[in-house]
Amino acid sequence: MTPPRTFTIQTFGCQMNVYDSERMGEALVAAGYEAVALDSGGAADLTILNTCHIREKAAEKVYSEIGRLKKHGARMIAVAGCVAQAEGAEIMARAPVDIVVGPQAYHRLPELVARAAHKPVDTDMPIVPKFDALPPRARPRGPSAHLTVQEGCDKFCAFCVVPYTRGAEASRPAAAILAEATVLLAGGARELTLLGQNVNAYRDADGVGLAALIRQLARLPGLARIRYTTSHPRDMDDDLIAAHVEVPALMPFLHLPVQSGSDAVLKRMNRQHSAAEYLRLIERVRRARPDIALSGDFIVGFPGETDADFEATLALVRETNYTQAYSFKYSPRPGTPAARAADPVPEPVMVERLARLQELLFAQQHAFNRASEGHTLDVLFDRPGRLPGQLIGKTPHLQSVHVIAPGLKLGDLAPVHIQSAGPRSLEGTLVPMAKAA
Ligand code: 5AD
Ligand code: SF4
Repeated sequence: MTPPRTFTIQTFGCQMNVYDSERMGEALVAAGYEAVALDSGGAADLTILNTCHIREKAAEKVYSEIGRLKKHGARMIAVAGCVAQAEGAEIMARAPVDIVVGPQAYHRLPELVARAAHKPVDTDMPIVPKFDALPPRARPRGPSAHLTVQEGCDKFCAFCVVPYTRGAEASRPAAAILAEATVLLAGGARELTLLGQNVNAYRDADGVGLAALIRQLARLPGLARIRYTTSHPRDMDDDLIAAHVEVPALMPFLHLPVQSGSDAVLKRMNRQHSAAEYLRLIERVRRARPDIALSGDFIVGFPGETDADFEATLALVRETNYTQAYSFKYSPRPGTPAARAADPVPEPVMVERLARLQELLFAQQHAFNRASEGHTLDVLFDRPGRLPGQLIGKTPHLQSVHVIAPGLKLGDLAPVHIQSAGPRSLEGTLVPMAKAA
């Protein structure tokens, strides 16, 4: 087979996969390969699928996509990400591809491509060597950049594949993160979202925790906004809460999954916190930073979930009042303890519970957006809109705002008067005489 020259990457799943795809692309470009835009025809010599294993639907997508690519005559296919890690051998048996590379081994992708004739599978898990071996960051794609600071999870929630696909919790050295941030800022980034499966468990070998890392990052010139995701309630310490008060660049937004409002379910999920502990934590965060916007993740239909358990989830949502959230039907995942549970919730019950939960969350989100009407909010513009002169940006609370702003460009931060609010986004006008930041 003639060696490939061009490649394209298709990304599924979470923001960490988006970050990983960028870094895989940079590693291949550094090795002399050329990136081409994603297209359906398999025009690139090499197509990389960066995959997600979190729920069955996400994992099954990989097999249909491999089939589709093969039908369109794709020359070489690599499966990367969490499905590669969890099901490498199964992929090779069910839908053979040229390369299988796990999330901790993709720094070796150029080498794997070069010897793809041997159908290599590389699912080693050395996290720090990966970051050491990757080339330095290229220019970020826009003003808002992702930066992985921590990977893996030691929590072992009974439903979740992450501890198996991403391995044990591991934190990158603060110095390496500051160096990467400096390159991203020099390339035009103004906002950094620090990523980790348990980002608030971040602690490097010198004992630098997430709050200290955020304080160091906030001193870098040019950095306007810092965000982090995803956090676990158990790792939300006083120092991080204090950082939300002290560091102006740290945005008033917290994604803090709870999964359920029922103590019985939380216990069987092995979440290591009760509903009351979660609510007390939210109270502490809000006391420190009353304007903080809260986001969460929920699972309905965990095995054995009763009507009363589900009502407890609705009660927790009402009490917390989220500005946005993600909610899912429970999906049994191979190898997780919950997959062996004997008391599944029937599908129609799950469907009905999900609809009720989403209706409540949607109403809370819409109400929060409506409360922004008439206010002036700082907006960081991070993508072009569809109308001439229109830009789309984010408020500190991560709401999307559409603004006609012909004089401004991506990366500008400007006060915007919010005129109307839908459930998903806001419309606003630039405050007259405002100068772009
Ligand atoms: N089924 C449904 N949802 C899941 N999540 C994780 N594992 C599962 C599963 N087996 C959800 C959780 C987690 C989010 C990333 O995905 O809510 O916080
Ligand atoms: Fe999965 Fe998050 Fe639980 Fe870790 S803390 S096992 S990533 S749901």
